[in-house]
Amino acid sequence: MNKILFFSFLFFILFAAKIFSSGFQFIGDVTSYIKKGNIVEIHCTNAKLQITILANDLFRIQMTNDLEFPIDHSYSVLPIQKSPTIFPIEKKGDPIKISTNELVLIVQRSPCRLAFYDKAGNLICKDHDSYGMGWQGAKVCCWKELHDEAFYGLGEKTRGLNKRGNVYSMWNSDFPGYTATQDPLYQSHPFFLSLYQGRGFGIFFDNSYRSHFNFGAGTDQFFSFGAADGEMDYYFIYGPGFKKVLERYGELVGRQPLPPKWSLGYQQCRWSYYPESEVMTLANTFRNKEIPCDVIYLDIHYMDGYRVFTWDEHRFPQPKQMLDNLKNMGFKIAVIIDPGIKVDADYKFYQEGIAGDYFCKYPDGSLYQGQVWPGWCHFPDFSKQSARDWFGNLYRGIIDEGVMGFWNDMNEPATWGGTFPDIVQFDDEGRGADHLKMHNLYGLLMAQSTYEGVKKLRPNQRPFVLTRAGFAGVQRYSAVWTGDNVSSWEHLKLSINMCLGLSLSGINFCGADVGGFMGAPTPELFTRWIQLGTFTPLFRAHTHYGSPDQEPWSFGDEYEAINKKYIQLRYQLMPYIYNAFYQSSVASTPIMRPLIYNYQNDPRTMGMDDQFLLGDNLLIAPVYQENQTARKVYFPAEEWYDFWTDEKIVGPIEKLVDAPLEKIPVFIKAGTVLPRQEVMQYVSETKLDPLILHIYPKSGVSQDSFYEDDGISFDYIKGMYCTTAFELSVDQKQLTFISDRIAGKFLPADRSYLTKIHAVNQIPRLVKLNDKRLIKVTSMDQLLENEQGWNFQPEYEVLNLKYPDTGKQMKLEVIF
Ligand code: GLC
Repeated sequence: MNKILFFSFLFFILFAAKIFSSGFQFIGDVTSYIKKGNIVEIHCTNAKLQITILANDLFRIQMTNDLEFPIDHSYSVLPIQKSPTIFPIEKKGDPIKISTNELVLIVQRSPCRLAFYDKAGNLICKDHDSYGMGWQGAKVCCWKELHDEAFYGLGEKTRGLNKRGNVYSMWNSDFPGYTATQDPLYQSHPFFLSLYQGRGFGIFFDNSYRSHFNFGAGTDQFFSFGAADGEMDYYFIYGPGFKKVLERYGELVGRQPLPPKWSLGYQQCRWSYYPESEVMTLANTFRNKEIPCDVIYLDIHYMDGYRVFTWDEHRFPQPKQMLDNLKNMGFKIAVIIDPGIKVDADYKFYQEGIAGDYFCKYPDGSLYQGQVWPGWCHFPDFSKQSARDWFGNLYRGIIDEGVMGFWNDMNEPATWGGTFPDIVQFDDEGRGADHLKMHNLYGLLMAQSTYEGVKKLRPNQRPFVLTRAGFAGVQRYSAVWTGDNVSSWEHLKLSINMCLGLSLSGINFCGADVGGFMGAPTPELFTRWIQLGTFTPLFRAHTHYGSPDQEPWSFGDEYEAINKKYIQLRYQLMPYIYNAFYQSSVASTPIMRPLIYNYQNDPRTMGMDDQFLLGDNLLIAPVYQENQTARKVYFPAEEWYDFWTDEKIVGPIEKLVDAPLEKIPVFIKAGTVLPRQEVMQYVSETKLDPLILHIYPKSGVSQDSFYEDDGISFDYIKGMYCTTAFELSVDQKQLTFISDRIAGKFLPADRSYLTKIHAVNQIPRLVKLNDKRLIKVTSMDQLLENEQGWNFQPEYEVLNLKYPDTGKQMKLEVIF
């Protein structure tokens, strides 16, 4: 009898617990806390918190309602050095106060809530009073007080730049022809920036399960982030500048290393160029028409029955010879590599995959198969080190043949009918996990396998990988494009928002299919997109199978001439663009930046996503509507020069600017020294001579620097680079410009400087180079022929100066 009573009681307790747990549970009150090194562990009534102080401005917050925290592992976060940060904890009084030199975290005890303040006592971000952190079954969530914050980031998201008022989720998804509000798409970046009363901070939620972000949609109470499973594990990064937040985030999850310089050139793709004769005709047309191009892509038709790492012998009978010929013409070939390995007993890589136990399985141990282009396929389990190594090494054949670029697609992973079933099993580096955890990581890990494999096979050459899917950290391995967009004006505009979101999430080498992938652009749309693409980090035209031609010359002479002019401009700006890639590789600085990044305190820039900056100094205002020949441009508080006319504009001001078909509005910040080069048909076709420096004067002193290296190897890591510092001093009577190689062992080829000073409205009295008089020559032609001298073009108000770059400090003085 006693036994029956006992079991009835137990059953009741379990049943009650189940009912109870069907609602949200919250962490409760602080019961005790303990400091262990740089960790403060806080015990609460219903859960445990672990606060790790990683730096003065970087705290990690973990919550568990289990007895112990799970084994610490992340595919995104790089091994972090334990911080030497000293932080006192104030024990007296109610809240626990943890202070660093930059942040104060106040932990309220009842209920347990976290609030971050700056050292002056200004609130930055605070848990919501009623909820804080909690869970429901496997779900976890964190709720924070909502004020009038703006929200940015989250990677490749549709809708506006400021994410306020919307919900988003992270579940890598293949949506060909997605809409302007579709969510989620191909990439997951559970990182966002927020701006509250001018103070910027970032939160990285390190959880790969399907996650959700609510930035005040349907509520004025809180913003929240949570996931279907896994840990509440987030990093809080304080700015107050976005620049600093992104720099820290880059330290945490890694940065885009310098890519091969040729991948910054124009790239031509379609689904698909084949057979060989078509590829050669394409290549010859570029060269005959003198439209620069570096990369040609081969989409799925180059393969034998879509078996990756094979060639269709009829379409491409002699790949090595073709690749050699193209190389001699300056082209780099990139090929598509999907993850699916065709189930085909006669296919070598299928056999290897089976033998090595590299494929994903069902829980009963049978191999998972899904359908993609080749039909039924098995899929490498990229969360297994041996499978990553194996797949990475499969690139050997095509690398030996001369393939230079590697395009990873369908890696959400996508299969016909959707994605893998939830129960598909992964190794998870020995821990074992199901698809629900690994789905969002699949693209990241495939890109890692590709990058590391290619790097091993072609040592000391920077790999170029392009991926469709990814997760936080994918920038360490790959560039990203925004998937299957549409040839429409709406998508041209959307591509700006998506790239700006990526750029604010650490993904700096990004771009959209120029011209649009689905459908066919009108000539005008294609030209406007080429103009935009000229200023996006990745500049690749691409289109769907069976669509009309979409090359720069496919729309008639008038359009071809404009398209050519812009592709040429891309190459002229290459030194500047490469410099922006360098900044991104060392400090995560976005290459394509929303204005809010540079002008955080200017409320006008808060949601501005129809104009952007390229690097530090160029302001780009694309035309994104049909038949538009003018557009409004907002100029933040600086002096600006119109790139086309040199007209000076003093911000802050909004202006209607002329934008006929042949012109995309571009402006240059006063004080800029813009490094340019002559047009080339492909990157490094000829040496950088002359190095053309366009100077846009500004009163006072302006400084800048210019980075160069060989553009291809990793030698820069060993000091083989060259940094030149520029200093410009301008007053009414004199302009002084000093250039000085200040760092690095790389020696640029012998060359001249051609320095072009804009907005000069009077002929100088005297021009000196390193304290010696520089001679005036009568014409531009003569100046270019001479080793040194100067010439004034009153019609352009440009003063041109030519002199050898001796590698030493060069001081120019222009006296009026
Ligand atoms: C996917 C890719 C697209 C590619 C096509 C064929 O739709 O997103 O870029 O052309 O597959 O491989």
